[in-house]
Amino acid sequence: MSTIKIHDKEFVKSIPSEEIAARVKEVAERINRDYAGKRPLLLGVLNGCFMFVSDLMKNLEIECEISFVKFSSYQGSETTGTVNQVMGLNESITGRDVIVVEDIVDTGLTMHKMLETLAQSNPASLAIASLFLKPARLRVPVEVKYSAFEIPDRFIVGYGLDYDGLGRNLPDVYDVKE
Ligand code: IMP
Repeated sequence: MSTIKIHDKEFVKSIPSEEIAARVKEVAERINRDYAGKRPLLLGVLNGCFMFVSDLMKNLEIECEISFVKFSSYQGSETTGTVNQVMGLNESITGRDVIVVEDIVDTGLTMHKMLETLAQSNPASLAIASLFLKPARLRVPVEVKYSAFEIPDRFIVGYGLDYDGLGRNLPDVYDVKE
């Protein structure tokens, strides 16, 4: 069993890169079928999506485009709560088939807010492709049309996902050691 240390925590290898590659290919094949004759816009959510969206796109045979957005949290000047804002969406998504590409849907709050914001621009369709989904953690209803892995409620790193900034470069995925 392969164990690594990041900051203060130990992690154990749980999903080897070959398995990730196979699942990503399956997701791409579904998208190839579902979007045949269309030209979807992949909207990668930074930072975590970068490896997934790259491998996903390499397996797409349909015409497709890509753009990236980032979610920023800031303290609203007039409200007390934290407000999330989609940053960097420069092109119009009106009338486009948009596939939001995310590393992991955990509570679902990020994707819920993201879809709400994107829907205001009237895209032709809106779907989520997430590498990982933690169904037990969902706090709001979010339909994840394409998910490569459904995983238990455990913190993971690797293949783009980080623990406090580190671990994104790992080609395999690791579970935190309890
Ligand atoms: P949500 O809004 O709770 O669904 O959070 C989604 C974001 O939380 C992801 O895009 C990740 O950045 C982060 N996240 C959630 N779970 C994990 C994990 O197990 N490892 C690394 N990042 C995670």
